[in-house]
Amino acid sequence: MRDSELVEAARAARAFARAEFSGCKVGAAIETAGGTIVTGCNIENATYGLTICAERVAMFKALSDGHRAFRRIAIVADTKAPASPCGACRQVLWEFGGDLEVVLANLQRETGRYSLAELLPMPFDARLLT
Ligand code: THU
Repeated sequence: MRDSELVEAARAARAFARAEFSGCKVGAAIETAGGTIVTGCNIENATYGLTICAERVAMFKALSDGHRAFRRIAIVADTKAPASPCGACRQVLWEFGGDLEVVLANLQRETGRYSLAELLPMPFDARLLT
């Protein structure tokens, strides 16, 4: 799958964002190991604290559809600087997706590309619970 296809899926998912409070719409698209694309958008809440980011929506949708292995995630926001995943999302993506490739983009172009291990060095995970 071309990068542009995954980024376009994240851009399209962004249109569904429920970001009435911050105005910051985010879209995400995860590519599974089998080549399926699963998308997500951020969903805000009047209590603010129940807001969930686009990346976690995409990952939880994928997991609840039975997907277990993942390759890449694209994240799109309307920002000039790269909008990289928040700490909570980095943790969830790491625990369920491992060292994913993370492609960041805005509405016009790609703004950055990282491995999740670069974004979350020295993670806490299940290996430490044995
Ligand atoms: N947001 C995401 O969806 N992903 C991120 O990685 C960072 C932030 C959302 C959460 C909230 O709805 C809005 O962006 C502003 O923080």
